[in-house]
Amino acid sequence: MSTLITNIGELVTNAPAGDPGPRPGEPGAGPGEFRVITGAAVVIDGGHVTWTGPAGRAPAADDIVDARGRAVLPGFVDSHAHLVFAGERGAEFAARMAGQPYTAGGIFSTVAATRAASDVTLRAGVRRLADEMIRQGTTTFECKSGYGLTVRDEARSVMLAAEVTPEVTFLGAHVVPPEYSGDPAGYLDLVRGPMLDACAPASRWIDVFCEKGAFGADEAAAVLAAGRARGLLPRVHANQLGPGPGVRVAVQADAASADHCTYLTSEDVDLLASSRTVATLLPGVEFSCRQPYPDARRLLAAGVTVAIATDCNPGSCFTSSMAVCVALAVREMGMTTQEAVWSATAGGARALRRADVGHLGVGARADLLMLDAPSHVYLAYRPGVPLTAAVWREGRLAAARPQILAG
Ligand code: NIG
Ligand code: FE
Repeated sequence: MSTLITNIGELVTNAPAGDPGPRPGEPGAGPGEFRVITGAAVVIDGGHVTWTGPAGRAPAADDIVDARGRAVLPGFVDSHAHLVFAGERGAEFAARMAGQPYTAGGIFSTVAATRAASDVTLRAGVRRLADEMIRQGTTTFECKSGYGLTVRDEARSVMLAAEVTPEVTFLGAHVVPPEYSGDPAGYLDLVRGPMLDACAPASRWIDVFCEKGAFGADEAAAVLAAGRARGLLPRVHANQLGPGPGVRVAVQADAASADHCTYLTSEDVDLLASSRTVATLLPGVEFSCRQPYPDARRLLAAGVTVAIATDCNPGSCFTSSMAVCVALAVREMGMTTQEAVWSATAGGARALRRADVGHLGVGARADLLMLDAPSHVYLAYRPGVPLTAAVWREGRLAAARPQILAG
């Protein structure tokens, strides 16, 4: 059944008119462009976009939705999230706001709570956060393990993640757990051996936290190589807490993305610019850890492809709101509203090497976010205001305010 959404004030397509957008196999091919059609319509059918253009030229369809001048965007693509965990760390956040620094050590308390939790509790938590994301217009999201850190707990983490998304990341190399504190090499052997064996079947990606207090350059490279040998694609937590080798490790491994990129040298920026590794910026983390924001302008000027994601997790950033991240990217990282929205949609798709999402070219997956606002600008202009009017995921209505579709 086809649906025509018409009277769209501003349709963000991220694709040239009549162009199907990036082709499969070449999603990482350089920065794309933010594109809009004003006074637009879109037709979706069979889970895909089948037509976009001026409302006056729209073809007939089985069903019609009147957008009444609202904006429609590609659903957000959140390429970095840690949704499988138990417990919470509100007190740690409050202590940070009272002057304590963020350290990787807080992860241990979530590891303990996650190990102690039942499957039922963990599954309920993942689903609650996945639903929360979808209701806010995120139609594709990545989900990492990394709070289990035993073979059993990592395996159940990736399996629970796979229940809500195909973009599952094995992050056994998050930190060295306490029982291996005297034997980090032994833990690395576990991660690259039995843990990887147990997690690879349910995962698409392998990630490593390359940072002081977590894993060094050689260790990180070894983890990524082991994952690649099992068919997993690399991505890296890089340069979050200080300058370091993370970006270099990511680029050398041809990682899809180097995430955080808070502390970059000129050499890091050049490396990213000469690679197809996306720089995924996580402004919610800088907000929640009171860290300096990375300079997105510097990356964009160098020709680096930039994505924006939430990093939703109980420690460094507990927001699932891509809209908040867009607002922070605009206000604090020097991005224009157009750049930020592109990075939160098409940029995220590049970071996941996905050609079918992040844009609304003909043939794209019918993942749409209708805003209760006339343009994408409102995401930054009205920060914190719930602007989601309706969300379609693979052509199916996934969330809507009751009055929106009633006409
Ligand atoms: O991306 N950096 C490592 N991992 C998470 C934080 C995890 C936590 O604090 O629980 C991050 O910020
Ligand atoms: Fe993270």
